[in-house]
Amino acid sequence: MEIKDMDNVFIMTHPLIKHKISMLRDKSTGTNEFRNLVEEIAMLEGYEALADLPLEDIEVETPIEPCTTPVIAGRKLAIVPILRAGLGMVPGLLSLCPTAKVGHIGMYRDKVTHEPVPYYCKLPKPIEERTIIVLDPMLATGGSAVDAIDQIKERGGKNIKFMCIIAAPEGVEKLHSTHPDVPIYIGNLDRELNEDDYICPGLGDAGDRIFGTK
Ligand code: PRP
Ligand code: URA
Repeated sequence: MEIKDMDNVFIMTHPLIKHKISMLRDKSTGTNEFRNLVEEIAMLEGYEALADLPLEDIEVETPIEPCTTPVIAGRKLAIVPILRAGLGMVPGLLSLCPTAKVGHIGMYRDKVTHEPVPYYCKLPKPIEERTIIVLDPMLATGGSAVDAIDQIKERGGKNIKFMCIIAAPEGVEKLHSTHPDVPIYIGNLDRELNEDDYICPGLGDAGDRIFGTK
């Protein structure tokens, strides 16, 4: 399945991101290295995804003279990982924006239907005033991302971005067609889903690899 040119879908091209994703895919990459790579990739993608953050001028005195110089406007960023695997991306974003608030959305894919089963949602207030970055390393069928963004919008969230490390074309289509207002940042677009709705070639189960469970 190919995805057509879509507004609001950004596939990363930076060689560092591509290299680190290749390390992630390797089944011999252990838990500690896997976690570190997820964090680093999230930071590199975050750099791209936050390129449109608004700036405002402040006055600063340098050792030479006073000057007017820009800083990020307001402190209204919310990072929202989808549990569990999205948690692995949080430190990367917080290293860029240490004052961001962090919400959590809990859901897992049902083993048989592959539909998301939500179990938790806690978002920082006022959510309607924040730029919200939803994090999940894997966009497979898109069910989890769509449901998470539904929940955020139901609670008033408006300015939402979604960031993943690996996406399947099927998931991109579903997320983009359901929430066309949400920009999607993708580390790599993979080939397809298999019969179990795992991404091919993918990296396996991201949550299990981050947390060392199986
Ligand atoms: C994985 C992944 C996404 C979801 C993607 O979570 O982290 O949340 O699957 O699949 P989808 O696009 O088809 O919805 P999983 O259900 O394995 O839960 P976990 O992170 O707790 O392991
Ligand atoms: N969730 C994962 O962790 N990996 C996949 O390939 C699909 C869903």
